Amino acid sequence: MCQYSAIDGVVGEWHKIHLGSFATGGAGLIMVEATGVEPEARISLGCTGIWNTKQADAFEPIIKFVHSQGVKIGIQLAHAGRKGSTMLPWDDHEIASQADGGWTTKSASAISYKNFPEPKEMSILEIEELKVKFIEASMRAKDSGFDLIEIHAAHGYLFHQFLSPLTNTRNDKYGGSFENRTRLLVDTAKLIREKIGEDMPLFVRISATDWVEGGWDLYQSIELCKILKDNGVDLIDVSSGGLVHDAKITTGPGYQVHFAAEIKQKAAILTAAVGQITEATQAEEIIKSDNSDAVMIGRQMLRNPRWAISAAEELGEKIPWSLQLERARRIGARKSPQ
Ligand SMILES: Cc1cc2nc3c(=O)[nH]c(=O)nc-3n(C[C@H](O)[C@H](O)[C@H](O)COP(=O)(O)O)c2cc1C
Repeated sequence: MCQYSAIDGVVGEWHKIHLGSFATGGAGLIMVEATGVEPEARISLGCTGIWNTKQADAFEPIIKFVHSQGVKIGIQLAHAGRKGSTMLPWDDHEIASQADGGWTTKSASAISYKNFPEPKEMSILEIEELKVKFIEASMRAKDSGFDLIEIHAAHGYLFHQFLSPLTNTRNDKYGGSFENRTRLLVDTAKLIREKIGEDMPLFVRISATDWVEGGWDLYQSIELCKILKDNGVDLIDVSSGGLVHDAKITTGPGYQVHFAAEIKQKAAILTAAVGQITEATQAEEIIKSDNSDAVMIGRQMLRNPRWAISAAEELGEKIPWSLQLERARRIGARKSPQ
């Protein structure tokens, strides 16, 4: 979950407390926010980066702490494309000018998002260089001790801009047909898998649909996920939307779970469900009914970073707690609190 609190892409005290709180909160896996593979890959001026070793090194104490609690931690590697160069959400204006420290964005095609400036259409050379940046970022992440990598190909960011015909009108090998629009993501996933080796899990987050007629949809997502599976991706983290700001999205509790379920069945790949999953019994039902292999909890963990230990208690599951918190357990507590 983007925290807009990094300086020059480097994580600091805020991230340590933020991510650390999930490590003491019963999470099985923590996913670090969308992290840029180059300065222009960030969404905002405050987004995290892993395009240099200073940034990678800054993650190490956080990873060590998370591991000390017996929890796994992954990093989401991202490129914002045309949705980049923004101020922090709590600033008084949205788009960062050059004077603010912003940059000219790039995308599959020169089509703007909302009222954002027009991005530059990427050249073939820039596309090839981008793949290398993702590989280098993956290796930095691996060397820092991350347990897994997730490629962020959802929410209207750069990979998604290539996937959707609404934002990709190229007529070279990266645009037009389904095969061409998916080429950048498939190539990148394949190259990352080759580089990080067989043992490190590789996830991809996608938007299963743009929620717009003529855009990216569930059918294309299923076909893409079959190809990603063949190229070494282990799990698809299934979200939706984000490509265009005026899409009509039908939301509600677990509103994206059926996308995860269809992808799991039809592409025969592990999936994670996300989106308005806030209750322990709801999360349990998603897993038990075989709709998805995992659940990702977003805002509910921001509201209550120890949501997972409460959920386990509610479901009568005994999960490990941090030693320092043990005496607060409601079930199985034998000693008086004095
Ligand atoms: C403050 C905030 C930051 C987010 N940052 C990210 C991010 O870095 N990467 C990502 O894939 N999704 C991000 N999301 C989307 C969430 O991961 C999640 O998919 C969405 O909020 C729906 O799930 P939820 O109802 O559990 O929050 C963010 C959402 C919010 C509200």
